[in-house]
Amino acid sequence: MRGIVLAGGSGTRLRPATKALSKQLLPVYDKPMIYYPLSVLMLTGIRDVLIISTPDHLSLYQQLFETGAELGLNIEYAVQERPGGLAEAFLLGADFIGDENVCLVLGDNIFHGTDLGPLLRAEAEQVSGCTLFTYPVSDPTRYGIAELDRDGSLVRLAEKPISPSSNQAVTGLYLYTPDVVDHARALTPSARGELEITDLNNRYLGEGRARIVGLGPETVWLDTGTHDSLLAAGNVVQLLQHRNEPVACLEAIAWRMGFISTRQMVRLTRNYPEGSAVATYLAGLLAREPLGFEAFA
Ligand code: TTP
Repeated sequence: MRGIVLAGGSGTRLRPATKALSKQLLPVYDKPMIYYPLSVLMLTGIRDVLIISTPDHLSLYQQLFETGAELGLNIEYAVQERPGGLAEAFLLGADFIGDENVCLVLGDNIFHGTDLGPLLRAEAEQVSGCTLFTYPVSDPTRYGIAELDRDGSLVRLAEKPISPSSNQAVTGLYLYTPDVVDHARALTPSARGELEITDLNNRYLGEGRARIVGLGPETVWLDTGTHDSLLAAGNVVQLLQHRNEPVACLEAIAWRMGFISTRQMVRLTRNYPEGSAVATYLAGLLAREPLGFEAFA
């Protein structure tokens, strides 16, 4: 499976913080925002990643991750000339996707939970159309919403409904079969000139090929699109990490997933000042679990 991180957009709600900087590079507590969605792809077992961003900002992501080799990844980059909608990712990524399944994650979404990796790996094994992950929210009028029948089957996907009949928001994490590129090509732009992901997902729903997976209370889903939600997300990450529950520690995930060797992991720990929280965590991990992924298998 291939992975796409969509890290463009306008970030208008976060101005002036986003006036000169890409939203997905703003720190969420101790690391750039994009680390969080990238960690989700890695936990899914994905090593081939395409990062999409704006003409002004793409080079910053190239500086940050280069080829991805340090983390055992192959990272490619693509420009989105203007915010043409989430579904445009599949047009920009058509060659990258080829004939493989693909996972799209939005660059400003944070997911965390101890069982998330196994859940995502299991879902990645059985994609047969599109798979959407939902999460209960208190204000469904602000989100894309999945309307379900009594049996929990998906009936309709509605974008920011005025009178929602469900509180299940569709999160920024999606799995697709490779025909997503053809579906995206068949979309017509919405009134605001964007290729809407809800329209794309409704095409799969119409074919009876849309699957819904509800993320339960054991998972945290955080949005970072506004000043308040960005600050709140940082506080949640701080709280978890102070409880020794690291969030989106890419080096640790790469090692535990078997993407990098123990030797490479030891080298990566030297990127952090001795005695810092990350260096101490990584050293502790190496000491406790010297076999890396094998110890978890
Ligand atoms: P949004 O939060 O919907 O938009 P935005 O980031 O531009 O912010 P604002 O509403 O404050 O102007 O975008 C969700 C994610 O998708 C975010 O990570 C940006 C990304 N995105 C793109 O990369 N390209 C696009 O065309 C759009 C619409 C969003």
